[in-house]
Amino acid sequence: MIKLAVFGDPIGHSLSPVIHTEFAEQAGLVIDYTRIQASAIEFAEHFSRFVSEGGVGANITLPLKELALELADQLTPIATQAGAVNTLVKNNGSWLGTNTDGMGLVSDIEQHNINLQGTQILLLGAGGAARGVVPALLSAKVASIHVANRTPERAEKLIQHASAYLEESQAALVKLSAGSISMLPRAQYNVIINATSSGLHGEGIALPEWVLNDKPFSYDMVYGDKPTLFMQWALSRGCPVADGLGMLVGQAAESFRLWTGVSPDIHPVLLQLRKRLGLWNSA
Ligand code: ATR
Repeated sequence: MIKLAVFGDPIGHSLSPVIHTEFAEQAGLVIDYTRIQASAIEFAEHFSRFVSEGGVGANITLPLKELALELADQLTPIATQAGAVNTLVKNNGSWLGTNTDGMGLVSDIEQHNINLQGTQILLLGAGGAARGVVPALLSAKVASIHVANRTPERAEKLIQHASAYLEESQAALVKLSAGSISMLPRAQYNVIINATSSGLHGEGIALPEWVLNDKPFSYDMVYGDKPTLFMQWALSRGCPVADGLGMLVGQAAESFRLWTGVSPDIHPVLLQLRKRLGLWNSA
């Protein structure tokens, strides 16, 4: 029995136990994956109880991803660069903290037949969701990332953080910039990633029409029973779109691989989740 858990607050609606149970069935492994509700104050205590009960791997979600940086004994460069940990792996008695969110996003975008290398990215939002995926976008060798946020100062800060951790070889290849959503610099964006929480509040994003002229691939990290307003807008202009369920299952697959050594097939799990939960399906 492999003892795993996801920590967060709130945690009741997390799909992670369902996803990992499906992966385990595929792999012929027996896991015990539970949801553990923990506020920031309780996190360390709940985590050490989980460890003493034999826990060997954990996912960390909101609002604990930054705190998890401190719980880990070692960090991968990607976790340091993202400034957040979503996966803890027990490794020879110590805990390695990493972040699979960005890899989940990149692999999902690639599943949609988009080669990210050399593309111009418009990243909307500057919270934890946006920051967490920048390192993986850089590793995918995108040509540029423009981070646009309602509050431009947060976008500037995000770019400063990312630049501070850029390797010299990366810095020479990528152009990073930041600004306000309302003052978007004119460019041919190939991929737009909505990492704002606007979709969760049923709100749209006031982007200029020209941004969709070249039919960019339009990705929203949010998922639900219908497309977000951002996705509806892009769909109505003939752009290819995707929601964030593939990213969720993709980050889970990478965590599962780190814990068990087995890379699960995400497709049947994605299809099953969409069907079972009545989620929007582009097909
Ligand atoms: P998370 O950790 O999920 O990224 P967060 O740190 O609260 O959450 O960040 C939410 C992001 O969504 C921010 O970039 C926020 O913009 P501000 O920094 O200006 O607040 C953005 N956001 C939320 N609702 C939005 C809306 N209706 N339009 C544009 N941006 C929105």
